[in-house]
Amino acid sequence: MTDTFVRTGAENGVLNITIDRQEKLNALNFDVLSQLHSTLETEARQQEIRCLVITGAGTRAFVAGADIAEIRDLDDEGLRKIIDLGNGVMSRIENLGKPVIAAINGYALGGGCELALACHIRIASNTAQFGLPEVRLGLMPGYGGTQRLSRLIGHGKSLEMMLTGKPISAEQAKDYGLVNKVVEPEDLLSVSGKLAATLAGSAPIAMKGILAAVLDGADTSLADGLELENKLFSGLFKTADMREGTAAFLEKRKPRFKGS
Ligand code: COA
Repeated sequence: MTDTFVRTGAENGVLNITIDRQEKLNALNFDVLSQLHSTLETEARQQEIRCLVITGAGTRAFVAGADIAEIRDLDDEGLRKIIDLGNGVMSRIENLGKPVIAAINGYALGGGCELALACHIRIASNTAQFGLPEVRLGLMPGYGGTQRLSRLIGHGKSLEMMLTGKPISAEQAKDYGLVNKVVEPEDLLSVSGKLAATLAGSAPIAMKGILAAVLDGADTSLADGLELENKLFSGLFKTADMREGTAAFLEKRKPRFKGS
């Protein structure tokens, strides 16, 4: 029987996902990736889930990368399988259409850094370290790191990280714009949870539109991006949530968004 490496819990519209393979610093082997994939295809897509928080179990690691012992001996077919699975997990997170927060509690190296990059908002403990150390193994990032990191923090800083393989501190990651916020380790889950609760109360279709406009628009010309924004913005006028949000404002009460 396969061990359970991904624990989940849903509360008030927030799905908490914990990667729990502590003896290997939560490294992403085939089983971890498969279980993440399955969670993203099932629980994460439930209509009542409006926001996700992904973290690593324990105090040492968010995720210390792809499982080096496992990938070392892969044949061509195995390699193709794990590349597709890993990238499938990253793009499912990025394109879920709901905000995903990475609560980074320790090492976020290699695939762990790439997992954090696929999330939409990153909150880090001040003990976290970020790096793409693949070059030290004679490898390079393979779960989207070359693309997502350089788009987020620019070519110069991302190339330095990838070419040296040297990790950076949480504070440095904040200076680079890689993380949104750095907190004390004991506050990580409460700060992330509070933000998740705010997002879970926000209008789901509007959030989906914002994610699509920013993520899909980033790879187009400004004119095409503006056209995309226009289309998504206009579409929101047909939603009950827009009626509710504007009515609640005018009636001076809190809106209750239903995602319709
Ligand atoms: N893949 C497989 N196993 C890993 C791993 C990974 N990416 N990262 C850590 N582990 C395992 C170690 O092999 C060790 O297992 P063991 O106890 O059976 O020997 C265990 O996790 C604890 O790690 P260890 O190296 O002893 O801890 P440390 O505190 O000395 O160092 C790190 C922590 C994160 C600096 C170090 O583990 C490391 O460099 N990991 C690899 C990071 C990496 O290169 N990631 C990209 C992979 S493509």
